[in-house]
Amino acid sequence: MSQSYQYDVLIIGSGAAGLTTALTLPNHLRIAVLSKGDLSSGSTYWAQGGVAGVLDDTDTVESHVQDTLIAGAGLCNEDAVRFTVENSRSAIDWLIEQGVPFTRNDTDDVHYDYHLTREGGHSHRRIIHAADATGAAIFTTLLARARQHSNIHLIEQQVAVDLIMASKLGREGNACLGAYVLNRATDEVDTYAARFTVLATGGAAKVYLYTSNPDSACGDGIAMAWRAGCSVGNLEFNQFHPTCLYHPQAKNFLITEALRGEGAHLKLPNGERFMARFDSREELAPRDIVARAIDHEMKRLGIDCVYLDISHKSTEFIQEHFPTVYERCLTFGIDITKEPIPVVPAAHYTCGGVVVDQHGHTDINNLYAIGETSFTGLHGANRMASNSLLECFVYARSAANDIIQQDTQVPMPEDLPQWDASLVTDSDEDVIIAHNWDELRRFMWDYVGIVRTNKRLLRALHRVRLLQYEIDEFYSNYRVSRDLIELRNLAVVADLIIRSAMRRKESRGLHYTLDYPQLSDSIVDTILRPASADD
Ligand code: FAD
Ligand code: SIN
Repeated sequence: MSQSYQYDVLIIGSGAAGLTTALTLPNHLRIAVLSKGDLSSGSTYWAQGGVAGVLDDTDTVESHVQDTLIAGAGLCNEDAVRFTVENSRSAIDWLIEQGVPFTRNDTDDVHYDYHLTREGGHSHRRIIHAADATGAAIFTTLLARARQHSNIHLIEQQVAVDLIMASKLGREGNACLGAYVLNRATDEVDTYAARFTVLATGGAAKVYLYTSNPDSACGDGIAMAWRAGCSVGNLEFNQFHPTCLYHPQAKNFLITEALRGEGAHLKLPNGERFMARFDSREELAPRDIVARAIDHEMKRLGIDCVYLDISHKSTEFIQEHFPTVYERCLTFGIDITKEPIPVVPAAHYTCGGVVVDQHGHTDINNLYAIGETSFTGLHGANRMASNSLLECFVYARSAANDIIQQDTQVPMPEDLPQWDASLVTDSDEDVIIAHNWDELRRFMWDYVGIVRTNKRLLRALHRVRLLQYEIDEFYSNYRVSRDLIELRNLAVVADLIIRSAMRRKESRGLHYTLDYPQLSDSIVDTILRPASADD
C-alpha cells in the first residue's frame, strides 16, 4: 500500500547541499531528507581536494573572485561570484563549528590554523581540506549532527519520481506541493506533501560513459524541475576532470587535483612533460585546458592514458597529504611514491542546472534547487576547483534562510492525489533499460564529449530522441523502478545538454567545437525554457 506523508520541508538529496539546508533550518520545522540510495550515495562523500575560501590573511576576496572569473572564461555572473566568495569564510567557519576535522597547519609560518592547498586556476593557497578525503569528513560530520535533531528525518532508498505541481492538479498558482517518491523497500510510490521542496540531487555526470561520479549522479533534479516547468541554464558546460585513474578494475576513482597543486607533473609515456606547450600555468591551468591538452595528446599519439607523477616528493609527504590516493593506487599495484599514475579525463561536474536566484529559488513557488543541481551563475563556462562544495554550503544556507522568511506564509498542501499505477504492469523486458542506458552514455561520450562538432551533436540529438520515444512508451506501460526513473531522467538531461551545445556557436571554456573554434564577442548564457516554442 502506498503511503502519504506531510513535511514542512522536503529535501531531496542528502549530500553537502541537502544536509546543510536541513541543519540551517530551525527545530520547529518537520524536515524530510531523502536519498535514493544510502545516505552517502552522492558525490559529496567522494570529494577529495577540499573547499575553496578566502581564509588566510594574505588572500583577498578580490583575488578569489578574479580567479573564478578567469576560470569561468568570461561567462560567470559576477554578482553570484562575489556573493559566494564573500560568504566563503562564514560557511567554512560554520563547518568548523559543526566539527569537520580539517587538516591543521603544522608549520610555524602560519597565517591560518588549517593547512591550505592549491588547485588549478587558484593564484593562492586557499583550499581547506581533510587530507585527501574532505568529502567523507564533511559528510560524516554533518550526518552525525543531523542525527541529533529529532525534527530531521533521514530516509534512505527513496527515489523521487516527479514533483507534484498545483497547476497539473488544476489548482491555482505556480507552486510545488511536494513529490511522488518510489520507496525501494515496498516498491510503492508514496506521496510527500510539503510546504517547501528543495532539490539537492547533485549533478548529471552519469550521462557520460566514463565518469568520476558515483551512480547517483543522473540529473534527476534537473529533469524533474524541467518537467515541472523550470528553466535550465548552461547545460552545455560539462566538466571533465583531467585525472581519473586509468586501470581496468578501477571504477570512478579520481586522482585529486591537489596532487598537481603540490607539484605533481603530467607526463607522456616517454616521461616528457607536455603542459607547457598548452598553457603557461602548466599543470595548474584551469581544468578545461588541462583536460583538452590530455585529450589532444592521447589522440595525437594514439595512447590510452597519460601519467601523473608525484614520485619526486618524499614518501612521508605523499603518505601524509594523500593517504586515500596512495592506498587506493596500491591496491591496483601502483606505488605512487615510486612510479607515475596512469590517468585519463572523465566526466566530473555539471556546471549548468536549474536556474535559481541568490536564495536557490527556482521559477516555481516554494521550490528551491541547490548544489550541483542548480545553475547559480558562479561557474560560468568552467568551474574552478573546489568552488563546488563552497557553492553547496553558501546557497544551502541562503535557501534555508529564505524558507525561514517565507515560513508563515505557505500553508500545508492538502488532499494530494496518490500516484496512479492502475494502468501499468510489471516489466518483463528489463534488458531494454540496461541496453538503452549503455547506448545513451556511449553516444554522449563519443559525440558530446571534450571535442564537439555540429555533425556529432546532430547525430546525438537524433539518437536521444529515438531513445526518449522508447523510454516514454516503457514508462507509460510498466511499473517504475530506480533504473527506469534514472534512464528517463538521463535522457531528458542528455537532450537538454545537446540542445544547449547546439545553441552555442563558439568555443568557450568547457564547450569546444571544431566548427566554431573561436570565442564569440557576445557573452550569453544558454537558457532553455520548457514553455518556449523554440526550445
Ligand atoms: P550530492 O553530494 O551528489 O548528493 C546528491 C544526493 O541526492 C544524494 O543523496 C542522492 O542519493 C540524492 N538523489 C539524487 N537523485 C535523487 C532522487 N531522484 N531521489 C532521491 N534522492 C536523490 N567539489 C569540490 O568543491 N571540492 C572537491 O574536492 C571535490 N572533489 C570531488 C571528487 C569527486 C570524486 C567527485 C565526484 C566530485 C567532487 N567535487 C568536489 C564536486 C562535489 O563533490 C559535488 O559537486 C558536490 O558534492 C555536490 O553536492 P550535492 O549536495 O549537490 O549533491
Ligand atoms: C579534486 O580533488 O581534484 C576535485 C576537486 C573539485 O572537483 O573541485
